[in-house]
Amino acid sequence: MSEYLPGLEGVPATKSNISYLDGKKGILTYRGYRIVDLAEHSSFEETSLLLLDGDLPRQDQLQEFDRQLRNNRVVKYNIREIMKCLPATGHPMEMLQTSVASLGMFYAGDECLTGSDRCEDLHYIHNMSIKIIARMATLVAMWQHIRNGYEPFAPRKDLNYAGNLLYMFTGVEPDPFEARIIDACLILHAEHTINASTFAALVAGSTLASPYLVVAAAIGTLAGPLHGGANQRVVEMLREIGSPDKVQAWLDKKLANKEIIWGMGHREYKVKDPRAIILQKMMQQLMDHRGGKISREFETALALEAACEERLASKGVYANVDFYSGILYSELGIKEDQFTSIFAVARSAGWLAHWREQLKDNRIFRPTQVYTGYAPRDYTPIDRR
Ligand code: COA
Repeated sequence: MSEYLPGLEGVPATKSNISYLDGKKGILTYRGYRIVDLAEHSSFEETSLLLLDGDLPRQDQLQEFDRQLRNNRVVKYNIREIMKCLPATGHPMEMLQTSVASLGMFYAGDECLTGSDRCEDLHYIHNMSIKIIARMATLVAMWQHIRNGYEPFAPRKDLNYAGNLLYMFTGVEPDPFEARIIDACLILHAEHTINASTFAALVAGSTLASPYLVVAAAIGTLAGPLHGGANQRVVEMLREIGSPDKVQAWLDKKLANKEIIWGMGHREYKVKDPRAIILQKMMQQLMDHRGGKISREFETALALEAACEERLASKGVYANVDFYSGILYSELGIKEDQFTSIFAVARSAGWLAHWREQLKDNRIFRPTQVYTGYAPRDYTPIDRR
């Protein structure tokens, strides 16, 4: 193929049997299981194992995986010390990329992927995946306290993944309903075919870089506002709008200036993102759980989505996963600049599943380019320029 397609639109970059999406029908499945069923019945632990191994685990397999995740939550003292040296004004995604890369130095030894022999070593791959997934939540939640000058809460082994994440953020016993919401959010964000950050993970993985560096590359890619960083922008945008009655004028101005509406649009979906539908329902459930009072941001979001539908549906632009996730996290007391980090916590399962799949049949990524520069020309000495 010699045709250049900007953004590689429609170009298959890999073969995968991890997840599937139908952007016209709004269907997303992980290993063949519909996302709506997983969000309702599964847990993040079970979904991670499904993504990594390919099938829903038996009870004993899930228990063992869960036990290993719980046992690997603590991070070494020196990693906390590194985090304490980072500027409090830094973005959590920058902290996360730094800390995950540094995990590779502290937990390296013979676990460091140095040769193709490791590609075949399922035990190594599984072990690495557990070490990374287990610690992602710890790093993100610890940062919330470290950056404010406090000692972080130690992870608790008696809580499930989502409950522990919420506990480490708030320091109080997690409300089971809220922990379940976080659990479902983690499931919904765990995987999404070959998006930009997963592609970055595949490229890094194809060089046989260590899994810590593979995940660090993916974290950097997820951080951008056109990808995972959009959830933070959505809440900032809703606060800027202020209230539902201001939506129409605000939208007219933005669209007239050809500006982006955060949380809207997707390369693959030409209908509303199925994850956005579930997240919107969960937001409604949370409001009902709290006595029916609707939050100002949710109200504004509903009005904005309706207004966008009138103006953008003809382009196939609808709400994506980031449109409602941030509002939900915000209602659970999570700071807006941490939304994308929580997305990364969840997506680490998908990245590692793709890393594993890549290693099974690896060939280094080395695409070509359409050169648009000068033909060879003579060097001009500096005194003659
Ligand atoms: N706001 C306003 N217009 C949008 C839009 C948005 N969020 N997303 C797409 N469009 C418009 C484009 O301006 C373009 O219009 P045109 O044909 O008149 O030029 C058309 O829809 C097609 O969009 P395009 O830029 O080709 O889509 P893409 O596939 O390259 O980009 C995104 C996909 C996700 C990067 C893009 O939709 C976007 O920037 N969304 C906002 C960021 C976001 O929420 N990201 C999270 C994704 S999960």
